[in-house]
Order: sequence, then structure tokens, then C-alpha cells
Amino acid sequence: MQTVTVNASKKYDVRIGTGLVDNISEQIAPLMSGKKIMVVSDDKVFALYGKKAVDDLENAGFTVFSFVFPNGEDSKSLETYSKLVEQLFSEEFSRKDLVVAIGGGVVTDLAGFAAATYQRGIGLVMVPTSLLAAVDASVGGKNGVNLPQGKNQIGTFYQPSVVLCDINTLETLPVEEYTNGCAEIIKYSMIVNDGLFELIRDNEIREKYEEIITRCVTIKRDFVEADEFDLGKRMMLNFGHTIGHAVEACSNYTIPHGRAVAIGMAAITKAAVVNGYCTEDTRMQLDELLEQYNLLDDLKYKAEDLMERVKVDKKNSSGMLRIVIPKAIGSCWIKEIYKEECLKWIVLGGAR
Ligand SMILES: NC(=O)c1ccc[n+]([C@@H]2O[C@H](COP(=O)([O-])OP(=O)(O)OC[C@H]3O[C@@H](n4cnc5c(N)ncnc54)[C@H](O)[C@@H]3O)[C@@H](O)[C@H]2O)c1
Ligand SMILES: [Zn+2]
Repeated sequence: MQTVTVNASKKYDVRIGTGLVDNISEQIAPLMSGKKIMVVSDDKVFALYGKKAVDDLENAGFTVFSFVFPNGEDSKSLETYSKLVEQLFSEEFSRKDLVVAIGGGVVTDLAGFAAATYQRGIGLVMVPTSLLAAVDASVGGKNGVNLPQGKNQIGTFYQPSVVLCDINTLETLPVEEYTNGCAEIIKYSMIVNDGLFELIRDNEIREKYEEIITRCVTIKRDFVEADEFDLGKRMMLNFGHTIGHAVEACSNYTIPHGRAVAIGMAAITKAAVVNGYCTEDTRMQLDELLEQYNLLDDLKYKAEDLMERVKVDKKNSSGMLRIVIPKAIGSCWIKEIYKEECLKWIVLGGAR
């Protein structure tokens, strides 16, 4: 097992290894001063892993409740959130008790937001079961739900007490969800120069989960420690996301997040070559890696349509926009541009 310690407003461990769900009570018991645990999961993950975790926690003497909702992004809503906090209230949860989120990013975001806000914050354990949640959503403290008008519009920063990443759970992940997580891993390999790029080029990610997830979590940890509340450096984690978010929105969310980010990374890199910020060789290396993970798709939307979506992205302030531009493999920088300039970048990135 690997452990990455995050020293943010709360200090906590991210543990990455095998068999953590089977013995979840051992991991959790030292963190508990109360008796009650609310296991939050979606229907799919609950059937696979949630039930097992409930049994183990009950056998260890905890009073365990479960809150299970239909899988999918549609559940990341104020409606599901209010059902969850109402259940915490009706079961008389106090601040000594614990919420345990077992699932992908939808579960960790929703349960994180509920734990952060119920009685102004109760204990939270993250058990990511998707690759994307393991390398990204479960670490760093961002949580939230969607509004019908926009994704992630409601949320807080709230760090968990521990993150338990059981790589055995990733075995049942559908291939498209694996691919989605790979896109975020490729992103990390482009922003930090520590050999991750070569590691995932020369090895299939799923063959080296423990090492690769640990490296990604370490990279994220470093950005979170430097800028927990996303006021500066943490923005680097948004490589590929400005255009990626616009692609997601233009597709009416039929293109999943990771795949959209991959399109965004390829597009911004293409534009960076034309603008003289990085070499054609860098672009080719990135494209080859994206291709290797079945993530090389065209930017098939109209530049004006993408631009409309960029304008409403919550990461934008006043007339300016910060975009993450690649310099080389493992090295990116943040550039502030006028929103209007972004259209040029999108066109150079290959939009219609
Ligand atoms: N808070 C953050 O920092 C952060 C970062 C990145 C993404 N996110 C959020 O994460 C969400 C996306 O996360 P996601 O891609 O994990 O989506 P998800 O939670 O919807 O999971 C994807 C699908 O995989 C299934 N699944 C999960 N684990 C499984 C397993 N082990 N075996 C079989 N099926 C499994 C789920 O039931 C679901 O159908 C988005 O809402 C996004 O906004 C948050
Ligand atoms: Zn992302």
C-alpha cells in the first residue's frame, strides 16, 4: 500500500492499495468518535462494493445506514443532496458521525458536499471506485452539485479525513470509464516533468495502477497544498479543460468529461504550436499518447458555439480568461488572455 499525505487546511492520508474495501472498518475505526456511519453510493457501485463495506462496518459494531441513488451525472443535483441531508437529520447524525462515499466522482462530489454542509461539517471518508475519482475527484477537497443551468455551480472546499483507494475495485470499471480516467492521467503527465509521461507511454496504465495513481495523487497534492482554494497555481490542473468543458457542453454532455478534456488538450497544443509556444514534436508526442489510449478525437464543433460555452464557464472572471498552455512534455504555464482572444485559440485548435 502507498500513502500520500495531504497537508491542506486538514491533514489527511490518501491510501492506495488492494483490499481496502474488504477491511474498511480497520481503516475507519481510528477516525471515529461516534457510532453512526452513512454509506453513500450509486446503485451500481453499491451492488458491487457498498454492500460488502456495510457488512464489514456492521460486523465491527458500527450502526450503519446507506443512501443509494441512481448512477449517472443527473443524480448530482440539489434534489439528491437534500434527500441525503434529510436522511442524516432523520437518523440523528451528529458531528461525531461519519459519511463514507463509495463510488465515482458523482458520489464523492455529492457526499462531500453533504458532509461539508450538514451541521456545518461532519467527518468524511472518500472511497473512489472510478479511475477518474481515484486520481482527481476524491482528492483535494472540491465538492458540489449541478444546477440545471450549469455543472458544479454549487459547492464548497472541504477536505476528507482519509481517502481509501482500493485498486481492486477498478477491475469492474467499464472500458469507457477507464478511458476517461486515462485522460486525466495524461493531463498530469503533461503538467509535471517527473517521467510520468514516459511511464504511461511505455506501460498500459491498468497494469501499473498503484504506482500511477500514487504519482497522480502526489501531483494533485502538491498543487492543492500550494493553492487549496484555487486562486492561482491550482489552475494548472485545468490543462485541456477550457476547451474540454466547452466540448462537453456543446455535446449536451454526451461526450464524457475525460474524452472532452483529451480533445481540449490536443486542441490547445495544436494552437500553441501555431503560436510558437511549443514544438510540433511535443504535439506529436501528445497526440500519439492520446491515440494509444483511444482518446484522439477531432474538435468537431463550430468555434463560435464553443466560444459561447467558454464565456459562461465559472472559472472566468471579468473580461479575462486564464488558459493553460503547453511548453513541452511535462511543462505548462498559465496565460491570461482577453476572452475575445480565446476564439482565435479555438480556431487554431482546429474547430470548424
Ligand atoms: N471534485 C473534484 O475535484 C472533481 C474532479 C474531477 C471530476 N469531478 C466530478 O466527477 C464526476 C465524474 O466522475 P466519474 O467519471 O467517476 O463519474 P461517475 O461517478 O458517474 O462514475 C461513472 C460510472 O462508472 C460507474 N462506476 C464507478 N465505479 C465503478 C466500478 N468500480 N465498477 C463499475 N462501475 C463503476 C458508476 O456507477 C457510473 O455509472 C463529475 O461530476 C465531475 O464533475 C470532480
Ligand atoms: Zn477534469
